[in-house]
Amino acid sequence: MRRAAPPARARSSAVPQPDAGRASIEAPDLNEQAEWLLRRNWRAGRLADGTPYGFTCPSPPRYRHQWYWDSCFHAIVWRHFDPARAREELRTLLRAGRLDGFIPHTVFWHDRAGWRRAPFYATQSVRHNLATAHMQTPLLALAWELVAESSPDEPSFATEAVDQLCLHYDWLESERDPDGDGLISIIHPDESGLDDSPKYDEVFGWMRHYLPGYFWLVERSRRLGYDSRAIIGRYDEHVEDVLVNVFYALALRSLARLSGRDRYRERADRTEQALVERCWDERAGMFWDLAGRYERPISVSTWSSLAPLALPSLPEEIGRRIVEEQILDGRRFATPFGIPSVSLEEPSFRAGWHLFRCWRGPTWVNTGWLLIPAMRRLGYTRESERILASYLELVARHGFREYYNPLNGEGLAARHFGWSTLLVDLVLDRSRLGPCGPSGSSGTSNRVAAS
Ligand code: GLC
Repeated sequence: MRRAAPPARARSSAVPQPDAGRASIEAPDLNEQAEWLLRRNWRAGRLADGTPYGFTCPSPPRYRHQWYWDSCFHAIVWRHFDPARAREELRTLLRAGRLDGFIPHTVFWHDRAGWRRAPFYATQSVRHNLATAHMQTPLLALAWELVAESSPDEPSFATEAVDQLCLHYDWLESERDPDGDGLISIIHPDESGLDDSPKYDEVFGWMRHYLPGYFWLVERSRRLGYDSRAIIGRYDEHVEDVLVNVFYALALRSLARLSGRDRYRERADRTEQALVERCWDERAGMFWDLAGRYERPISVSTWSSLAPLALPSLPEEIGRRIVEEQILDGRRFATPFGIPSVSLEEPSFRAGWHLFRCWRGPTWVNTGWLLIPAMRRLGYTRESERILASYLELVARHGFREYYNPLNGEGLAARHFGWSTLLVDLVLDRSRLGPCGPSGSSGTSNRVAAS
């Protein structure tokens, strides 16, 4: 079935412009196109056993399942248009979880993995799986809190799933932090969502994402029944990933507020402290992931190394170094369009499109969503507005693409890509100084009406 075309794009200048004459998009048009996209990608139904589902595909037909972190981002945008859908998206994700607290990276729901791709999905077996057996960057509690703030029509949403959310974060601690240092580990590169990032090249080697050896990585995890502790104990290819742990800490803080349970605040403190004590490289002015049992720093400069800027507890001098020496430095992350996924200085940096390469340079919108409010918090207002304006220019020119070339602004890969609508959240809530919480969101509902 052919779908209606998206609403026509505007080319005016309601947002601050880097240079006169550059394309942009006004908030009402941005909202209209984003809502159109989310509605277009929405899928709802029931499984044969009656289990209901409702979620947003990142970009059908290519991405037609439910992905954990995509869904959280979608819900964060849905709350501005239709809080009931935002709630359904998150409830659906939680429904895909196991009784022990594990929640999958990808859930297939209505549309099982095709036979060609099935062997490469990190599932328990090649066939008959409802979901993968690995995880993705765990920001569910953070998304839950933001959606709850926008749910005055259903105030009980904030607490209805507290026990299940606690179980999820307890699973992460018990299964993914076997050395108890407060940092959780990933066992597959795509568990962070940054599948082929060059920071994993050395760690996963011939088994890295999009190489045939990835098949073996999946297969050997299957043979250990995806028992995370067993996999971490037996193999050395695992990473205490900075980006994953930043979202983990932010989510623990949200969970502490949602549940009123202090131990989640203490756990967030611990993770944040561990990031600064173990991952911060004072000389380089960057945060590095730690690989394997000996926790070797992976000194490859990607946007993950900047992510701790989003932590309100980050010492100010570290935050300023990240902004001034990295984000605003034209040799590193300051590009004409958005914040690139890899520093220009890295030999692996590739700005353009490649069939099997997506996190080796292109600009993604979730990067700006995480870092722009943090720049505002530190007072870099003009600079953060300039970066935001460059993202708006990308959407004005090419629509919501999966990612973009940071050097020439070309729109790349999937079209009508769900989480690129996160720009709505950045534009509608310019007062926000962090992903959420008291130091950030003003906690208002229905911000579209206010725009
Ligand atoms: C790609 C991205 C991953 C995302 C998925 C669905 O694999 O690398 O982060 O979750 O697509 O959009």
